[in-house]
Amino acid sequence: QDADRAKIIEAHELTAKLYHHVLNNTKQGQTAKQYLRERGLSDKLIDHFMIGYAPEEWDLLARFLTNRGFDLALMEKGGLLSAKTDGSGYVDRFRNRIMFPIWDRDGKATAFAGRIIGEGQPKYLNSPETMLFTKSRTLYNLHYARPAIRKSKQVVLFEGYMDVIKSWSAGVKNGIATMGTALTDEHCAMLRRQAEEIVVCYDGDDAGQAAAYKSIPMLETAGLKVAVAMLPKGKDPDDYISEYGPEAFLRETIDQPVSVTKFKLIYSRKNHILLKEEGRKNYLLQAVEIIAELDSSTEREVYLKELSREFEISLDSLKQDCYQKRQELQKKKPQGDNNDNSWNNGRNEK
Ligand code: UTP
Ligand code: MN
Ligand code: MN
Ligand code: MN
Ligand code: MN
Repeated sequence: QDADRAKIIEAHELTAKLYHHVLNNTKQGQTAKQYLRERGLSDKLIDHFMIGYAPEEWDLLARFLTNRGFDLALMEKGGLLSAKTDGSGYVDRFRNRIMFPIWDRDGKATAFAGRIIGEGQPKYLNSPETMLFTKSRTLYNLHYARPAIRKSKQVVLFEGYMDVIKSWSAGVKNGIATMGTALTDEHCAMLRRQAEEIVVCYDGDDAGQAAAYKSIPMLETAGLKVAVAMLPKGKDPDDYISEYGPEAFLRETIDQPVSVTKFKLIYSRKNHILLKEEGRKNYLLQAVEIIAELDSSTEREVYLKELSREFEISLDSLKQDCYQKRQELQKKKPQGDNNDNSWNNGRNEK
């Protein structure tokens, strides 16, 4: 088993170098290289993240690994090759894709993400789960980001590989991403071991904002202090940096995250039609509920005052509703669950 693991890691390290070489030094790699340049990645950045290219060939890697004496059946188990359906051998898993090595926490390559050049499905093909690679426990870039996370006690959570890479070049050295799957409790626990604060910087589209909303109670339950970096509608961090440059990215988003309460208010607001009385009323009720979760009465008052001013409702009635909501929350608390899934009390505890 240990010998198998070592072989799989060795193969990944060699494969990363092979793909990187193909990208940089071969004719086959030119289109991919051009694509990365157009997306704003410098040669230095491409080297640092060991980005490569798997050419349009059925068995480039299979032959390469054979020549170096690797057992192809083991390489299939490790996720680098696929077994042919007729059982007659193995073919490369990744073909005609831009390759991002995925490192484990010790900086050993154990998986890949392969992006299609241009449009197409799936956009990213990730390695399968193997004895060395578990998506629910992997955070992209953690090995590079760890020193900066430890030092600042802060981590930035992105959605995608390109967000991490482009932000790194903009100076964000404490950025990581989940591996194309949702954030898990295991991810949160891993992050809590390194950091005290987390800035969630997900895409500015509906999916990204919904994912950010869902991540908050999980991160808070793990004991992290959460803030949210907002992006303009429809933009992700990588788009933003390409369009407005790295300084603007830092200044306008990463360095100006909003509080969880503010984020939830903005989020709830987008889901209500404020021009209609019904929508306005429902938003106000939800807003009060969000504010009621705050333990500091000063903070509660700040937000309630804002609501009172904007919607011309007396502060007194807002405070009264808020007080009531807090009573309800308090009643739920002793059962030992967080607010977000109190309806599901206890059932999702492991
Ligand atoms: P996005 O759809 O936001 O992609 O998915 P992106 O990161 O902006 O990709 P670019 O900029 O177009 O290259 C966010 C993340 O979800 C995972 C990847 O980790 C991706 O970075 N994902 C997405 C997959 O694993 N597979 C997919 O097909 C799509
Ligand atoms: Mn290089
Ligand atoms: Mn997205
Ligand atoms: Mn994106
Ligand atoms: Mn993107």
